[in-house]
Amino acid sequence: MTTPPIDLRSDTVTRPTAAMRAAMAAAEVGDDQYGEDPTTARLQHEMAALLGKEAALWVPSGTMANQIALRVLTRPGDEVVASRQCHAAWHEAGAAAANAGVQIVEVGAGGLFSADDLDAAIKPAGLPVFPRTTLVEIENTHNRGGGLVVPQDEVVRICERARTRALASFLDGARLWNAAVASGLSEAELARPFDLVAVAFSKGLGAPGGSLLAGPRELIAAADRARRMFGGAMRQTGHYAAAALHGVAHHRARLAEDHANARTLAEAIAPLTGVQLDLATVQTNIVVFHLAPGAPDAPALVARARERGVLLNAFGPRTVRAVTHLDVDAAQVRRAGDVLRRLLSSTG
Ligand SMILES: Cc1ncc(COP(=O)(O)O)c(C=O)c1O
Repeated sequence: MTTPPIDLRSDTVTRPTAAMRAAMAAAEVGDDQYGEDPTTARLQHEMAALLGKEAALWVPSGTMANQIALRVLTRPGDEVVASRQCHAAWHEAGAAAANAGVQIVEVGAGGLFSADDLDAAIKPAGLPVFPRTTLVEIENTHNRGGGLVVPQDEVVRICERARTRALASFLDGARLWNAAVASGLSEAELARPFDLVAVAFSKGLGAPGGSLLAGPRELIAAADRARRMFGGAMRQTGHYAAAALHGVAHHRARLAEDHANARTLAEAIAPLTGVQLDLATVQTNIVVFHLAPGAPDAPALVARARERGVLLNAFGPRTVRAVTHLDVDAAQVRRAGDVLRRLLSSTG
């Protein structure tokens, strides 16, 4: 019998547990386009409360949540200020330009930026040559930044500055659950400064799909309309909603284990000469490291690790991402660390 690979490519690779599948199978469902899916309605109601917002809307994916947010908070030709290498700018196939007609200006460093960075990026108003800067977006935790938790005092300052300068604010909280566990702040507290918030159920919480937008009732009504325009209004979504409810109830607190496992992996590889990794960036379940001169490049390392049963993601020519999740345990993560140690010390 062959050992299954240790899959650290993403926390999206998890398969629903038996208990989650049972919850999905048992879900009471109806046609959500007629507003008749009771499980989706329950999820939206409970998540609006958990996130401290008036209303919420289930959407099929995190990308669609981001695209709807851009669509309802901007007009074509507007400009959005966001962190460097944010998901909306780097991982959505240029959809911000195609779907909302906006351009994203990336500011700050390593996934973080300050209220002053926002101020400096806002184009002067009143001059017809400039785009209108109308939205600020924060990604928390920050994926390409290595799962960084954005400091909440800076989040508050950024959103206050945005309000002063008549900008709307959006939180891409695909991994807000991880930020809450790592910071000790509730999801509602993390979401409070923002006009609109997105969370995902298909990452650390282990559901097979589904994200959600939460905000004021009128924005959620606009989001509902945009979801239809994007083809994301579906029918018996209650099966997905049941998976989400199960994930929130049973897989949220255990994210601390994923964080501890990521730390174990990071500490195993950080001292290697072939690795450049600032341990301070490892705050949740993502380890993004760079390959030092003399070490193999990212595609080569990923291929060699795969031959030894460890799956990783090449995030750039010399940048690699490893993500811990529900389907890898501490022993597997230690084994992955051993594999990387052997690969990077023999060539490093
Ligand atoms: C920060 C962030 N936002 C949005 C998304 C998009 O989610 P989905 O893959 O469900 O479209 C991801 C996916 O990894 C993400 O990391």
